Amino acid sequence: MTDLSPLFDVRLRTPRLELRLPTRDDLEALREVALEGIHAESFMPFTVPWTDDPDQADFIDYHEMRRREWSQEAWHLELGVWVEGEPAGVQATESTGFRETLAVGTGSWLGRRFQGRGVGTEMRTAVLELAFRGLGAEVARSGAIDGNAASLRVSQKLGYRVIGRGTVAPRGVEVGHTDVELRREDWRPPFPVELEGVAPCLPLFGLPAE
Ligand SMILES: CC(C)(COP(=O)(O)OP(=O)(O)OC[C@H]1O[C@@H](n2cnc3c(N)ncnc32)[C@H](O)[C@@H]1OP(=O)(O)O)[C@@H](O)C(=O)NCCC(=O)NCCS
Repeated sequence: MTDLSPLFDVRLRTPRLELRLPTRDDLEALREVALEGIHAESFMPFTVPWTDDPDQADFIDYHEMRRREWSQEAWHLELGVWVEGEPAGVQATESTGFRETLAVGTGSWLGRRFQGRGVGTEMRTAVLELAFRGLGAEVARSGAIDGNAASLRVSQKLGYRVIGRGTVAPRGVEVGHTDVELRREDWRPPFPVELEGVAPCLPLFGLPAE
């Protein structure tokens, strides 16, 4: 298993938020936030419908699995998000073959009571700064299932462009999906993000050590 200890020292800070790799206790707290609800039961925003489990029995296992399976070739960083010190959700970024592609994907969720106050925009900004400024990414991709206006709006506000349409079937029924992309040259962070502890982690992302 890859030694991920340098990743635990990474901190992304925005005016209101801190993003960091959750400890076991942090994961318990984030699971409680997820249990309080993330979206209306009638609408599934995720391509993998993990919120359909009312007990969130696999929540911690999922995060630990992502760390067990980490490699320089294929990594998946699931950062916890704290809003003024309170655990609020997760902002993930992942890549396969990052050294060659310089492309990342992102995904996220917030507990319902934290939504609609600009936090989603702030946490995506933080992880985009990690990708573009911290890791030298060229492109970041995301997407949203039809009906997820908040997610699409966050992407639109941050300068992403629509690059395609497809379908997914999280609950066994096909639904439309919009793919979006943000290129480095179009990236204008709307507020400053402090990146701490990134340099020692570069080899973990498949990059040469500084
Ligand atoms: C997607 C998510 C992370 C966004 O976080 P957030 O804190 O709610 O987002 P923000 O407040 O920063 O921005 C949301 C934007 O969408 C807009 N919006 C929200 N709901 C909307 C709706 N139904 N119709 C139109 N616009 C809407 C808001 O007005 C805001 O835009 P504005 O700043 O121009 O007013 C959060 O809503 C969430 O966790 N949703 C459930 C899980 C999810 O969908 N995850 C993403 C899967 S791809």
